[in-house]
Amino acid sequence: MLEESRRKIEETVSYLNNRKHISPKIAIVLGSGLGGLTQSMEIVDEIPYTEIPNFPVSTVKGHKGTMIFGRLGGREVLVFNGRMHYYEGYPMNVVTFPQQILKGLGIEIIILSNAAGGMNPTFKVGDIMVIKDHINMFGNNPLIGPNDDTSGPRFPNMSEVYSHRLIKLAYTKAKEVNVHLQEGVYIGVSGPCFETPAEYRMFHIMGADAVGMSTVPEAIMAHHRGLEVFALSVITDLGVVGQVMEASHEDVLQAANTAGPNMVKLICAMLPEM
Ligand code: HPA
Repeated sequence: MLEESRRKIEETVSYLNNRKHISPKIAIVLGSGLGGLTQSMEIVDEIPYTEIPNFPVSTVKGHKGTMIFGRLGGREVLVFNGRMHYYEGYPMNVVTFPQQILKGLGIEIIILSNAAGGMNPTFKVGDIMVIKDHINMFGNNPLIGPNDDTSGPRFPNMSEVYSHRLIKLAYTKAKEVNVHLQEGVYIGVSGPCFETPAEYRMFHIMGADAVGMSTVPEAIMAHHRGLEVFALSVITDLGVVGQVMEASHEDVLQAANTAGPNMVKLICAMLPEM
């Protein structure tokens, strides 16, 4: 099992290393409706996931499915435009395949973005939340199974998954470019159902400020592999007691599209100093 998984990672890494023309140290994963960031990029190479050996393909509307090597905010970046979700039926090791190839590509920092439901009563639709910590409610973990000790420890320490250095930088830069930031705990769930009012309430009582169906497995895998992790949620609907919205996937995409430019502004401001 370990040999097979190592072989696949090596095959994918070697395909991409042979093909790439630039050597970014920063990777960015774009969440639902947040693909607008690619319009601010200078694109060097855009590769459909279907062309990359062993690469899974997202089936979700609003997720494009290409890997882009390019430049943004004066830095070389590798952008994943579209991600795989657990609710699509992929096993955790497939959902987190992108994070497993990053070290081999020379990536040191990963920026994760997502659309999420806000449960903190001070949040508004369109807010951007810096993820300071997470709660894993997937009922699964991408590190279950034999551990590749050459990649990371069997029992990873989780006291600082989200880099304090990058959170501090986010605050400095957000002030400079006039983007309002919220900060909070993201709770990751399998989906695909949005939450019932009772579930939103429970998650808020548990200490979460926003809920979504991605990011946590990716952050776990990236952290296990020694990458520095930074993550942002765009609040696309509210699950606040007394004002639970009737969220649909279309509403989420639309709200993410509207808030997207602020997220791009913040990321572009941070990139030169990451
Ligand atoms: N719940 C779960 N996932 C989400 C939500 C939500 O309210 N909004 C966007 N993704």
